[in-house]
Amino acid sequence: MTDSLARPVPDSFRQKANVDTETYERLYRQSLDDSDSFWAEQAERLVHWFTPWETVQSGSLAGGDARWFEGARLNVAYNCLDRHLESRGDQTALIWEAEADDEPARTFTYQELREAVCRLATALRGIGVKRGDRVCLYLPMIPEAVISMLACARMGAIHSVVFSGSSPDALRERIDDFDATVVITADQAMRYGRKVPVKANVDIACETLESVKRVVVVQRGGDEVNWQDGRDLWFHDLLQGASADSPVAEMEAEDPLFILYTSGATTTPKGVMHTCGGYLVYSALTHEVILDHHAGDVHWCIAELGWITGHTYTVYGPLANGGTTLLYEGALSARNPKRAWQIVEKHRVNTLYTTPTLIRTLMAQGDAHVTEHDRSSLRLLGSVGEPINPEAWSWFHRVVGEERCPVVDTWWQTETGGIMLSPLPAAESIKPGASARPFFGIDVALLDEQGAIVTGEGSGRLVINRSWPGQMRTVYGDHDRFVSTYLTEFPGHYASGDAAQRDGEGEYRITGHVDDRLLVEGVSLETSDIENALTADPRIAEAAVVSCTRDNGSQGVYAWVTPMLGEPTDEELADALKARVLNGLGAVAVPDVIQWAPALPRTRSGKILRRILKKIANGEIDDLGDTTTLADANVVDSLVESSRGN
Ligand code: WTA
Repeated sequence: MTDSLARPVPDSFRQKANVDTETYERLYRQSLDDSDSFWAEQAERLVHWFTPWETVQSGSLAGGDARWFEGARLNVAYNCLDRHLESRGDQTALIWEAEADDEPARTFTYQELREAVCRLATALRGIGVKRGDRVCLYLPMIPEAVISMLACARMGAIHSVVFSGSSPDALRERIDDFDATVVITADQAMRYGRKVPVKANVDIACETLESVKRVVVVQRGGDEVNWQDGRDLWFHDLLQGASADSPVAEMEAEDPLFILYTSGATTTPKGVMHTCGGYLVYSALTHEVILDHHAGDVHWCIAELGWITGHTYTVYGPLANGGTTLLYEGALSARNPKRAWQIVEKHRVNTLYTTPTLIRTLMAQGDAHVTEHDRSSLRLLGSVGEPINPEAWSWFHRVVGEERCPVVDTWWQTETGGIMLSPLPAAESIKPGASARPFFGIDVALLDEQGAIVTGEGSGRLVINRSWPGQMRTVYGDHDRFVSTYLTEFPGHYASGDAAQRDGEGEYRITGHVDDRLLVEGVSLETSDIENALTADPRIAEAAVVSCTRDNGSQGVYAWVTPMLGEPTDEELADALKARVLNGLGAVAVPDVIQWAPALPRTRSGKILRRILKKIANGEIDDLGDTTTLADANVVDSLVESSRGN
């Protein structure tokens, strides 16, 4: 993290930013020293409460029983829609773009979105859904998915969105865990230009499930689907005649809003549970401050709705703040390199928030696709989900944002509900790949392996010392697992599972999940350091490093490398890459193997599944474990093929 790489934030941005450096410092101090008054002020300002709270916070993080705004009542959907009708009923709330660029966009004003949500809430009540019931949403990225989330919130049902690319087994496992009574799905989904038979997957998943009484099907593609009379209902039939006059459920602040299963990249999925009051306050405030929301902004968070990022920064944060949020149906990939930039130009997108994976994928397609589209509307860019390597950060900053837009590298987790560490967009300058500062109310520390606090410059395990409103409250149905997973390893702290470095200026940089570290010849190496050295070569788009076992039983370094489009994968390039690592990190970090990979296996949220890469690297191809969370399962076959011979 050298300062020479830091990029200045232009005055033109800083003058209009919501929170300047001084205000940040003052509010950050207040948020820790006088936490109750800070959160009370924000909660009053950002959210409409039917009944005020008795206590701002009670219980504790360490005790696993933190509670926020106890005694207060609110409704999340009311806050996202009804509350805005007077001031911006005719403003666009939601813009939807299909994967195919010749299909017309769909837009909903706040008034229209509210009406659709109310009608669905009425209809769900009509088929027996009650407050507290669980509803599974297994839907493509279409407006009906957002409408369904908000309809559940309006009537007090708990939604659980399952990524529409999940297999029937993964779907069954999740529905079974939270006993959904209703599944909302579609006849099909479109991804990578292919049709995914989501309704057929629901049929398979439900074969052995008792709890599901109704399956509601949105007509997206029009292909014929199997129909189970008495159970299946068309979404459009259900809405026909359903009244838009739907009462709002007054929810307790601590009532559950949703359950979301973690991607399961390393373990079996956990049902992370978030509640209404604290989550909404935290979503709205982080969206306003870190994504620098201004009235009239068009915000595009390119993330699956089945991922926490889609929940917090496509739906709840932007709509709570009265913004215009953009939803894109499909997958952006090498197939349609122009699509992202067409959409930015067409809808005059102001804030663009996405993953390093997607940034690297788009970067690998060359600059021309980007530069031929007008990006003058863009004001801020953000990244989430993985460490972002300096080259991808710089490309995003220089080519996409024309050095005009700050790039915020935001660190957070499904469990945290919203952004926890990020540069302040209005900082004087921002360092590539640094998640910089804790957000308001976030009391972080680094611990060494013995659990002692690291002070000043240094590195260690990233932990959180006290509760914040957006934190998960439990693992659904298994509170002991919540306590043992997050609160036991370092008593008194929430263990994030990530490692981080802190520089001399107190700014943080996430180095990755603790499991991603390698121990080679007694030296502890960060995979991200080796990956950054590899991707520093302009011919390389992406790299993922895992450990491999050498013939003598010791650990070595195995690098999967994806070159830029059209680059030859030859000895010369492999040697150049090894030389880069040698010069940058020393002999111990030089990969034993450089394996060319046309693509890397990823979860739906863009995280590289190192577990699988490690198995392939070690020849354990018959035992790849659970691959149901992969975004594209074909990638694994091609990697197994390419690794043969090593
Ligand atoms: C990783 C994502 C580095 C990290 C919202 C974390 C990151 C996990 C960053 C959570 C970042 C997320 N830099 N690593 N900016 N953001 N991560 O639950 O390992 O899908 O623990 O939530 O992603 O992933 P999740």
